[in-house]
Amino acid sequence: MSERQVKLAKTAGFCFGVKRAVNTVYEQIETGKSPIYTYGPIIHNEEVVKDLEERGVKVLNDENDIDNADSNGTIIIRSHGVAKTIYDKTEKKGMSLIDATCPFVKKIHKIVSEKGNEGYHIIIIGNDKHPEVEGIKGWCVGSVTVINSEEEASEFEILNDKKVCIVSQTTYNYNKFHKLVEIIEKKVYNVIIVNTICNATNERQVEAKQIATEAESMIVIGGKTSSNTQKLYEICKEECENTYYIQTAEDLRDVSLGDGVVGITAGASTPKNIIEEVQANVRFKF
Ligand code: F3S
Repeated sequence: MSERQVKLAKTAGFCFGVKRAVNTVYEQIETGKSPIYTYGPIIHNEEVVKDLEERGVKVLNDENDIDNADSNGTIIIRSHGVAKTIYDKTEKKGMSLIDATCPFVKKIHKIVSEKGNEGYHIIIIGNDKHPEVEGIKGWCVGSVTVINSEEEASEFEILNDKKVCIVSQTTYNYNKFHKLVEIIEKKVYNVIIVNTICNATNERQVEAKQIATEAESMIVIGGKTSSNTQKLYEICKEECENTYYIQTAEDLRDVSLGDGVVGITAGASTPKNIIEEVQANVRFKF
């Protein structure tokens, strides 16, 4: 048995906001109170969600599920945040709410609500379908546009005298954000740009790219539906042709690694134990 050289990204795995949200759920389980609900899966990771389910935590998928939930229950809001209507609805139903929205996302809610009140049109650079963006939209006062491509940025039109405030989905790609802002800036006279991309994402992307340039093969670990893992994969693939997107160590069966250095990174929702298991499996060649 020989050992393969592995370079594990220091920034791989849970970011501060996700760690905080997941811990909140486990702490709540410890209190023994029930039922416990999370609004949407607490993170984009099937393994963790499965574990919580086994401990009795139920997932509410939409507003209708709140109607059908037990009014003695507690709803935990995940790090992505939710629209204001969810807080209102939970309160009306008399349920307890624990807010684990990441403070960086909360900051965006505050900006869009304040600037909206000051008459700004809000632009969110992000993916319209992403729950974080849905949540941000739900805090906008007045008009809002979501832009996710150069085409959409070019098509954006607004009256000359309208003030515009641009924010970003926290997990957005840094370079793409700047490219889209550049296009929009040319079309609006009065614009405030608040770069709300989270540093955790940027640091993880920069480190992943660096490792991918040096590695012979690259492994990106994360849930299928995690957009930040998907982005990490794209960034690594550009630098390293042999880049693989896996969910757990079991998926390594379908991966053929060479003898050279293997780089490993993981999305914000990937638990430490999964990363360690992958690392151990990659290191030792049987
Ligand atoms: Fe928060 Fe940044 Fe994570 S916004 S949830 S710390 S990626």
